[in-house]
Amino acid sequence: MQRNIILIGFMGTGKSTIGRNLSRASGCTLIDTDNLLEEQEGCAISQIFAQKGEDSFRDLETRALRELTQHQGHVIATGGGIIGREENRQLLRQLGYVVWLIAKPSEILKRTARNNSRPLLNHKDPEKTIRELLEQRTPLYRETAHLEIETDHLSFEEVTAGIIESARYHFGSQAEQE
Ligand code: S3P
Repeated sequence: MQRNIILIGFMGTGKSTIGRNLSRASGCTLIDTDNLLEEQEGCAISQIFAQKGEDSFRDLETRALRELTQHQGHVIATGGGIIGREENRQLLRQLGYVVWLIAKPSEILKRTARNNSRPLLNHKDPEKTIRELLEQRTPLYRETAHLEIETDHLSFEEVTAGIIESARYHFGSQAEQE
């Protein structure tokens, strides 16, 4: 396993914010797969969905994860649907210590309602989609993660400190086994 910290979790669970905090606190560079794809494609995620469709977006995510297997010592924040493919789940675990950020559906709804940059929720009934996708994806997040964190009652600083502490322990015990 490589020595990166990878954040997975549903839209609006704080992956980008926690990613930035982790990067600052640990000195590790942050890579956000959504930003990476936007840079590579030269347009916003919503345009990739609109022009190429979701399947092509998922292909781009898989390609990005394969490229990231060349990286060490990074914090990697991922898009909420990246765990959908079996290949991606394997790549994520190969990349490093995988942390699943969890939030209540009501909190997710509140946070994602702040902007309309997420094509999957950009319609009349985002709450229904959130519930359905959470049901489909929860077992996949669980299967992929080394650590799960319920974020509802914690500050971003507390979540960040918890992740750094457990990653240190995880990589320490991994080094002992090598
Ligand atoms: C998606 C989540 C988004 C982005 C895209 C699809 C999803 O990322 O990758 O809109 O399928 O859950 P965030 O989780 O960072 O919002």
